[in-house]
Amino acid sequence: MKKFPEGFLWGAATSSYQIEGGHDADGKGVGIWDEFCQKPGAIYGGHIGDVGCDHYHRASEDIELMAELNLQAYRFSISWPRVMPHGTGEINEKGLEFYDRLIDSLLAANIRPLVTLYHWDLPQAVQDRGGWLNPEIPVWFEEYAKVVVGRLGDRVKDWITLNEPGIYVNLGHFEGTHAPALKLSPAEILTCYKHTFLAHGRACQVIRELAPNATLSYAPHCVTGEPVDDEAQTVEAAREYTFGESHPDRNFWQQRLYIDPICKGVWPEKLCHDLAPEWELPTSDEMAVIHQPLDHLCLNFYSAPLVDPAGAVIPDAPGIARTLFDWPVRERGLHYAVKFHHERTGLPILISENGLSNMDWVAQDGKVHDPQRLDFLERYLGQLHRSISEGIPVLGYMHWSLMDNFEWADGFKQRFGLIHVDFQTGKRTIKESARHYSEWIRANAIP
Ligand code: NOJ
Repeated sequence: MKKFPEGFLWGAATSSYQIEGGHDADGKGVGIWDEFCQKPGAIYGGHIGDVGCDHYHRASEDIELMAELNLQAYRFSISWPRVMPHGTGEINEKGLEFYDRLIDSLLAANIRPLVTLYHWDLPQAVQDRGGWLNPEIPVWFEEYAKVVVGRLGDRVKDWITLNEPGIYVNLGHFEGTHAPALKLSPAEILTCYKHTFLAHGRACQVIRELAPNATLSYAPHCVTGEPVDDEAQTVEAAREYTFGESHPDRNFWQQRLYIDPICKGVWPEKLCHDLAPEWELPTSDEMAVIHQPLDHLCLNFYSAPLVDPAGAVIPDAPGIARTLFDWPVRERGLHYAVKFHHERTGLPILISENGLSNMDWVAQDGKVHDPQRLDFLERYLGQLHRSISEGIPVLGYMHWSLMDNFEWADGFKQRFGLIHVDFQTGKRTIKESARHYSEWIRANAIP
């Protein structure tokens, strides 16, 4: 068995809109995903997240399952429209009570809550005022952060501000395939990024003030090059692919944009100039707000393009291992993502998401056999163990996801869970891979 360091944190992750349901329960306001799901053709199969996994009504059962799986931590997000139906002003007490109960029950089960403030469900009322384009949004987000951290900060010891701005800005505002389904100009996209990073900075200040003993982090997605071999030249080519100064042909899919302003206080000027020469760079006062000290960096990692020694992307060979999302299985990419991001930022790393979608179903014997997930877990955790052995501080691993859920534009097609959910009845079934994961947690080691 490969041992993990003492104190390594094992868990699983979800997000509010993807699992909660209760879309109009107890005074919740409308979110942009509630709206987007109504658009014909927006979501695979016309699926909607109104009920989702009905976690809003089944949270106690879900915590019992987490305990049965020996999870030490659970990463989830707060729904802004559930807590503040109009985004600002009125507070929905019942929404806060839901999170109160959730956190109390997690703590009672000895499961550490890792709380994300924003995982994509913007209140529609905020969108109606311009959403991430409105220069006031950092102030509104600060107000929301004060409400949430003020209420839950006595018990939550780990806060994450934003989940994957790269995805919600690029897909939601540039490509238009996620809510709020806009296709903005390159300059407007950079403005959305600036506002999103300012919102992060202001939320950090709130967290430091109201929960001074908590850890503070941020969870970007990773587009990391995986070197095709471990030779020094190839590794440097993959690093350059990941953090190169500017790849104008990759428009806003450039890791430097999501990492450098927040973690280093450096705005990627050339990249911005290449994409929108007329755009005005943030001022030094704005950069001071954006660049707040973090305790560690969260990373959501799934797959990676393969990079050759010359820095070119190698096309995927026919028939390689792929998930139902069609993402190649690239476990070495995880090691390099961890290494490159740690070396660039100097921060310890926590894997806040990693997992695969699969075509799981309940078999005739009543079980969910998911050998691919088991193999995936062994491969990726094996590489994480390698990172740790090479001296990189890796604090923990949150598998995506705790349970099958609403996978955004892909609806309920993609099953990412350790727990299978029957979306007709809500019935939960622990998958076979999860039984193994649970044993590894107990042993703090993997095969
Ligand atoms: C990242 C996102 O944070 C999460 O919401 C999503 O379900 C997973 N990736 C899988 O696509």
